[in-house]
Amino acid sequence: MIEFQHVFKSYGRGRNILADINFRVSAGEFVFVSGPSGAGKSTLLKLIGGLEPASRGSIQVNGQRLDKLPARARPYLRRAVGVILQDTHLLFDRSAFENVMLPLAVQGHPWDSAAARARAALDKVGLSGKEDLNPIELSGGEQQRLAIARAIVNRPAILIADEPTANLDHDNAQRIMNVFRDFNRVGVTTLIASHDQDLMARYASRTLRIDPGKFADSHGPASPPDAGQPPQSAPARTGGGRAEPGFGHPGESA
Ligand SMILES: Nc1ncnc2c1ncn2[C@@H]1O[C@H](COP(=O)(O)OP(=O)(O)OP(=O)(O)O)[C@@H](O)[C@H]1O
Ligand SMILES: [Mg+2]
Repeated sequence: MIEFQHVFKSYGRGRNILADINFRVSAGEFVFVSGPSGAGKSTLLKLIGGLEPASRGSIQVNGQRLDKLPARARPYLRRAVGVILQDTHLLFDRSAFENVMLPLAVQGHPWDSAAARARAALDKVGLSGKEDLNPIELSGGEQQRLAIARAIVNRPAILIADEPTANLDHDNAQRIMNVFRDFNRVGVTTLIASHDQDLMARYASRTLRIDPGKFADSHGPASPPDAGQPPQSAPARTGGGRAEPGFGHPGESA
């Protein structure tokens, strides 16, 4: 599902942020990416989301090698991987509802079913009733939740989230983690970078820890292909499938 082989990453001519990283995440796993500030957690997630290229090595996501991905296959990657960045990148010239609609509109979804999905996603993150507000009228935590709604509306096979609970109080952090847990339970592979060790320990079954110059995988060194760990909390699901985490329209696919 996600496989790093001898991956190096530096920005420009700078030092290696990541050096010789090897791991393999199977479908349906819930992985916590930990490490001190500046160690490279966001960098790792951006590599998986195809938002930054590796400097060296091979990254496979959903059976596709990212460095070999032709331009026409990029939209497929964007649908397969839901990304929630540290900086939410919301659009402030339109409503919360329109922000969530955007990924579906880009794919040419029929408006009615897209709208139903968008409303379900907003409901899932506790933003029902705030659809018509501009993101500027939302609190930091609400903006964070809006970014999560936008990432899940596509029902991606993989969700990666960078500090999704950083701006949230305890109750809302828990609520958001439960949203991720629900998606993971229906087979969505989930990777979350966070500084909140205690919270993550309650959800993730595996930790990838990045320290400057050091990488540790709680599942041990990368295993050879076909020897991957079975997921602990969810049935394995092939990459082509679509999650149905309790809302939306079964049978409809993106
Ligand atoms: N676009 C960029 N250009 C140059 N250097 C960068 C860029 N993005 C990140 N870096 C550097 O890469 C290193 C790792 O950054 P990264 O954002 O991945 O860390 P992080 O573990 O997510 O930290 P934090 O916990 O503070 O979010 C940092 O030293 C940072 O300065
Ligand atoms: Mg970061």
